[in-house]
Amino acid sequence: MNIVIFGPPGAGKGTQSKFIVDKYKLHQLSTGDLLRNEIKNKTKLGNEISSIINSGELVSDTIVSNLIEKFISNKNFKNKIIFDGYPRTLAQAENLDSLLKTYDQKIQIVLKLNVSLETVKKRILERKILEKRTDDNEEVAIKRFQTYERSSAPVLEHYKQSNLVKVINGEGTISQINTEISGLIDANKG
Ligand code: AP5
Ligand code: MG
Repeated sequence: MNIVIFGPPGAGKGTQSKFIVDKYKLHQLSTGDLLRNEIKNKTKLGNEISSIINSGELVSDTIVSNLIEKFISNKNFKNKIIFDGYPRTLAQAENLDSLLKTYDQKIQIVLKLNVSLETVKKRILERKILEKRTDDNEEVAIKRFQTYERSSAPVLEHYKQSNLVKVINGEGTISQINTEISGLIDANKG
């Protein structure tokens, strides 16, 4: 099964992906992690994107789309991917549809985590102490939230048309959300 996990910064996409990966033996594809790796490894692409990431804006559709094809084309990951943070624009969703079609795969479920801006700010400031992400400060967190609000609606609409979207209250505890997600995935597997 391929899953998309969707939501604002700090919604718990990464946290819940790790749990889904363990429980359902899937592979996490986090475009944010892939992009941060490029920056960490000081690649040409990393140099190009670091200021965009630190401003809370989105990197171009072409850049992220190039990064994900390697994953989707890998036979070991066929129908075993959780997409964390991709797609984030309608163009990305359409690109994903077309790549999945090429490699004979589908999205089975889109998990949308809802959280308020207040919760986002609190979680991101807590995480900053542990992970030291350069885009984790209050100003950029607000910007990332606004970017999400601006670009998410067409993506959700796209998946709603195929009846794939399940909305989850992301304000609960990590384990409450785990349980809810498991229930949704199990029901979908039938
Ligand atoms: P990305 O890395 O995807 O960041 P994001 O969307 O801002 O989301 P986060 O990773 O901050 O949050 P999360 O939802 O994973 O929450 P987490 O589980 O860590 O993207 C970064 C940047 O890269 C973008 O701004 C953009 O520039 C670029 N980019 C990435 N993908 C792109 C794309 N497709 N197109 C274009 N550009 C792209 O949780 C956060 C914290 O809260 C943790 O400390 C966690 O322990 C805690 N927590 C989680 N759940 C709970 C809970 N239920 N209760 C209490 N605490 C919780
Ligand atoms: Mg994340």
